[in-house]
Amino acid sequence: MAQRYADITGWGKYVPERVITNADLEKLIDTSDEWIIQRTGIRERHIVSEGQTTSQISVAAAREAMEMAGLRPRDLDLIIVATSSPDYLTPPVSAQIQDMLGAKDVGAFTLVAGCAGFVYGLVTAQQFILSGAYDTILVIGAEIISRFVDWTDRNTCVLFGDGAGAVIMQASDEPCGVLSFVLGADGSGAQHLIMPAGGTVMPTSQETLDRNLHTLRMNGREVFKFATRKLGKALEQAIRQAGLTTEDIDLFIPHQANARIIESAARHVGLPSERIFVNIDRYGNTSAASIPIALCEAAEAGRVHPGDTLAFVAFGAGLTWAAAVVKLGKHRKPHPKPGWRARLASWLRRG
Ligand code: ACO
Repeated sequence: MAQRYADITGWGKYVPERVITNADLEKLIDTSDEWIIQRTGIRERHIVSEGQTTSQISVAAAREAMEMAGLRPRDLDLIIVATSSPDYLTPPVSAQIQDMLGAKDVGAFTLVAGCAGFVYGLVTAQQFILSGAYDTILVIGAEIISRFVDWTDRNTCVLFGDGAGAVIMQASDEPCGVLSFVLGADGSGAQHLIMPAGGTVMPTSQETLDRNLHTLRMNGREVFKFATRKLGKALEQAIRQAGLTTEDIDLFIPHQANARIIESAARHVGLPSERIFVNIDRYGNTSAASIPIALCEAAEAGRVHPGDTLAFVAFGAGLTWAAAVVKLGKHRKPHPKPGWRARLASWLRRG
């Protein structure tokens, strides 16, 4: 079999219309626009309206990515959804999304790796493609963290925003795709970013409700220290494993959690600011959605081109971290619909 690669052939995003500015938060809690900007780089965030769900915003982002790749729902072989804020604990939101997309009988699973989930998902998709198992995979990062935030806790509520991003990965014979990756976890830091109740350790009870234990608790200082310690190193390792140097990275698209953390990772590998993409000021931390949303925005701003080498790096609850160096195919646009061979193979596989 000829060498296979996994190209990113489409991307899309959905960001809720409703915007909450730092000035809005000043009316809710003891905080200030100045503090939030200085410590995080965030000016505003988008928050879903009542009734909007993670599956709905995922489908909106997925449709955009599929349109860019020229795909119909039945062309998909697999759907991977990275999220920590699904519609339900059970059933998996990935199955809701499969159904809403009309991707009949297509396999779908949810992957939980905190804010690093999208990079974990991308790397997982690539493995299915390189093995020859599948040709066309939809990877989504989507979050509605606003539903799990305590809006009276100034330590957390100023940080997060909602949104969804999606990419399509497709088999290609052009050398491109994920050139290298680093995946890591350290569960000894679990308590630093945790929603204590609602799982098997502390099932929902009147007491957990009374004590408000179904919202996110965070030790910001510890998460900050962990992120600055790990991110730069993970990025450096991924670049080295790809056989590249910092000079070869056309654009660094990091998880948008804190502008100071992004700067620290970039400084560690010597990346100048003009090769870093930052949109945290307008979205806050959208967790697993932040990298695919940033990728879409970078492309819209004309900062991503066919053949470019991108570096993704993320960290999150777990604690987890992930980095990947990704080369975009040169022949990405305009992208043809999958040929009859690919469609026939996909149809036969599904029986
Ligand atoms: N407004 C005003 N003051 C505040 C606010 C706020 N919103 N939040 C905290 N403060 C106060 C604190 O109470 C503290 O006051 P004190 O000194 O009297 O105790 C003071 O500001 C300084 O607090 P620090 O925690 O030292 O501030 P720091 O510079 O570390 O910034 C921050 C805090 C922004 C939370 C930072 O630690 C951070 O970004 N950490 C990483 C968080 C993160 O990225 N989490 C997401 C992980 S990803 C995922 O999977 C969801």
